[in-house]
Amino acid sequence: MTSKLLYAFASALFISKLVIVQAIREIDADFADPCVIQVGDGYYAFATRLLRELMSGTDAMPRPFPAWVAGAPAIWAPGVIQGDNGTFVMYFSASSSQDASKHCIGAATSSSITGPYTLERNPHACPLDQDGAIDANGYKDGDTYYVVYKVDGNSLDGDGTTHSTPIMLHGLNSDAISPNGGAT
Ligand SMILES: *[C@@H]1O[C@H](CO)[C@@H](O)[C@H](O)[C@H]1NC(C)=O
Repeated sequence: MTSKLLYAFASALFISKLVIVQAIREIDADFADPCVIQVGDGYYAFATRLLRELMSGTDAMPRPFPAWVAGAPAIWAPGVIQGDNGTFVMYFSASSSQDASKHCIGAATSSSITGPYTLERNPHACPLDQDGAIDANGYKDGDTYYVVYKVDGNSLDGDGTTHSTPIMLHGLNSDAISPNGGAT
């Protein structure tokens, strides 16, 4: 088992051979919101932040960011899939330039699993009136791509009341980015 740490934000970890025989602690680090994708004969894992030595080199998601992203954004919970034409699409949440305490769901693309990922100009979903959205993941069912995410209502629960946190599902067009109809 060899592993190589790649990136700081939307940290990427390449695992040359991942054979899971039993539940073992493979990554001894704060590896929050993980996502694993198989590419060729390897597996890549992405996480929010990796609190240990990070390989020097390019950021998986270099600036500049589009206008909807806050100035010093918190970028969380990346999920990566590979689209029909081979392009890698990353879904993530980033704090909003309109209210940095809330997050919107964005997508970013790269021709390489390790990036750099270019952010789409507009957020995919930005329900700021419902306290934003986080924790996006993409997948393909049959011929259709979907992105699923959580409306972040409970981020307001500190006021003593509870807020709903619906899980939303968007069908996507074949680019795995543009919505095909509304969210359910
Ligand atoms: C490939 O797919 C990506 C994401 O779905 C899209 O942005 C890009 O334009 C596509 N490229 C070509 C050459 O069709």
